[in-house]
Amino acid sequence: MKVTIFGTGYVGLVQGAVLADVGHDVLCVDVDAAKVAALQAGRIPIHEPGLQPMVQANQAAGRLRFTTDAREGVTHGRLLFLAVGTPPDEDGSADLQHVLAVARTIATHMAAPKTIVNKSTVPVGTADQVADTVRTVLAGRGAQIAFEVVSNPEFLKEGAAVADCKRPDRIVIGTASAAAEAQLRELYAPFNRNHDRIVMMDVRSAELTKYAANAMLATKISFINEIAGLAERLGADIEAVRRGIGSDPRIGYSFIYPGAGYGGSCFPKDVKALIHTAQSTGFTPELLLAVERRNDAQRQTLGERIVAHYGGSLQGKTIAVWGLAFKPETDDMREAPSRYLLQALWAAGARVRAHDPAAMGEARRIFGERADLTLCESPADALQGAHALAIVTEWKIFRVPDFEQIAQRLRDRMIFDGRNLYDPAVVAGHGLGYVSIGRPGVSPPDKA
Ligand SMILES: NC(=O)c1ccc[n+]([C@@H]2O[C@H](COP(=O)([O-])OP(=O)(O)OC[C@H]3O[C@@H](n4cnc5c(N)ncnc54)[C@H](O)[C@@H]3O)[C@@H](O)[C@H]2O)c1
Repeated sequence: MKVTIFGTGYVGLVQGAVLADVGHDVLCVDVDAAKVAALQAGRIPIHEPGLQPMVQANQAAGRLRFTTDAREGVTHGRLLFLAVGTPPDEDGSADLQHVLAVARTIATHMAAPKTIVNKSTVPVGTADQVADTVRTVLAGRGAQIAFEVVSNPEFLKEGAAVADCKRPDRIVIGTASAAAEAQLRELYAPFNRNHDRIVMMDVRSAELTKYAANAMLATKISFINEIAGLAERLGADIEAVRRGIGSDPRIGYSFIYPGAGYGGSCFPKDVKALIHTAQSTGFTPELLLAVERRNDAQRQTLGERIVAHYGGSLQGKTIAVWGLAFKPETDDMREAPSRYLLQALWAAGARVRAHDPAAMGEARRIFGERADLTLCESPADALQGAHALAIVTEWKIFRVPDFEQIAQRLRDRMIFDGRNLYDPAVVAGHGLGYVSIGRPGVSPPDKA
């Protein structure tokens, strides 16, 4: 099928590549000319496992193309996907300017019936707004062309986006149109062979489903972080508690890892937007407000622990930081807990030596040149001359570190672990002090 995707970010680019990979004819449109030029040259602007070879192979086969030409994009696809950003507005609501800009673009150029498919995460009622926008522009042109607006939210996880799009858990389609349903069933048929993954519903329910899914996951994280805070105060071990509750199939093990809080481009903004939506109806979302408050506090906790350990000031101290991306296997640092940690460390006077396996370029772009930040090529390099180590992202390569080397290099022999990667007894066995989340701390032995 001929498909156009507006927006070549984490969602649009991956979806475009995966659709092309099963034989669809995909044209991706973006307003960012530099990004499009890079993609045309086969350079992938984001870190996403498996994406580069898939983009390059489908480009070479002529099934995946990139352009800034919106008119060409509108003409190409029978299905027109919206995968543009919906960042938080100042009041926390989702900013729909990019979504509505694409709606106007489509209406300006369309000359034949189109199905507009919204993959961006948007508040309930956005499909109606998109339809109104298209209708208004068409009326201004004196054109009468049929179109549908379908909601088809995206559930991919950054870091596993290609795998998630190739084998989705579910494909949520919100539409009342039988014709649009048939088109989307045809589009997704290659991903729907093993069993029926398509969940049909009305448009507003599909829009709400995406927010409900992210709010539920954020709630699980804030819940376990709350219990971790309790465990610390009660002398319990949150890791034992986590295993104890996760074994109940009604609870499950996923998304109950205590840590430095959730971040990324989705959970913080989507919880905020859902709170805003709820409040705009006069309904107080008590639970979501608490989820957000707990996370705001949790993202500060690692920095607070380090500053408290050093009696309130980090003047003259250098802290090694492992992990900058908001989670492993991505370079995305939007709303990352590391950013809150770095600000806290700098505010207390520390210098930072940081390493991340994928997000170094992103960190350079965000922080620029600073005297109090050194971006290091390896985890071992980050330890050089540092007093203590802070771990913010649970990348695999941090899981089995060389504790002897850490003990030799860290001047104060302290690890502050925001992801509970290590067994406290093992760390203590190497003569290191260890502070983690929701578990009893270990003090370092006096230095010889
Ligand atoms: N990133 C995720 O993990 C994820 C997962 C599920 C859903 N979502 C949702 O999908 C949407 C996109 O997220 P993302 O992370 O891919 O965003 P992104 O910021 O990575 O990419 C958005 C792209 O849209 C482009 N764009 C903006 N205006 C445009 C226009 N008028 N025409 C064409 N292109 C335009 C931008 O240049 C950018 O390349 C958001 O609503 C997000 O909430 C994201």
